[in-house]
Amino acid sequence: GMSRDLVGKKVLVTAGPTIEPIDPVRYLSNRSSGKMGFEIAKAAARRGAEVSLVTGPVSLADPAGIETVRVETAREMLAAVEGCFDEADIAVFAAAVADMRPAAPAAKKLKKGSDADALARIELVENPDILATMARRKSKQVVVGFAAETDDVVENARKKLRAKGADYVVANFVGEGGAFDADDNEVVVVSAEGERSYPRSSKSAVADALLDHILGDR
Ligand code: PMT
Repeated sequence: GMSRDLVGKKVLVTAGPTIEPIDPVRYLSNRSSGKMGFEIAKAAARRGAEVSLVTGPVSLADPAGIETVRVETAREMLAAVEGCFDEADIAVFAAAVADMRPAAPAAKKLKKGSDADALARIELVENPDILATMARRKSKQVVVGFAAETDDVVENARKKLRAKGADYVVANFVGEGGAFDADDNEVVVVSAEGERSYPRSSKSAVADALLDHILGDR
């Protein structure tokens, strides 16, 4: 049914990859398409929430009626999230944030000959953890993280729940045919109360099931 159970609520969602420049033409990134995060943002909006969507570079159009902020790097994503976290009731971190970034991106395109050393050894430094940073600052927010796992899915999700201070971690299977760029997803939602598996279904259906799960606990 078309339940409007999020009227009057503010929902923040991160989506997509981040890209971390090596030089003006090269970057480090990952295979996130943004679909999962966009479907969560759209589901929350359908249910009446005021939604802020902070997304890395993806080929998806801004969803109608949703404040969409486009960023590139993890540090830009953190800054955008910091701008809307405090007023959010629910914050869902579905982005695949690059854990590391090149320490010193080159101002000019690196050349195969003259910059061979710089190209062969790109020094990396750690990016801020957006979810962990915001969870430390949480007041009223329900904080939901994602975990892209290939093995020991539930155990690893449980570790992330504790390490990052989230209320829920949604573990998705990213092995062959899993999660990244697909139109459907198969998840286990882990919280202090326990865990619940959801069968493979469209990302839109997963998004609604996740919101049902969170609201059902409250
Ligand atoms: O975008 P799609 O193609 O639809 O694919 C969806 C997805 C697989 C990308 C998505 O469902 C998903 O699992 N997103 C998280 C992927 C991930 O990289 O997880 P992680 O294990 O690196 O991070 C765990 C959590 O911490 C995530 O909520 C992540 O957003 C957050 N994080 C991680 C690192 C960092 N520096 N900052 C963060 O906020």
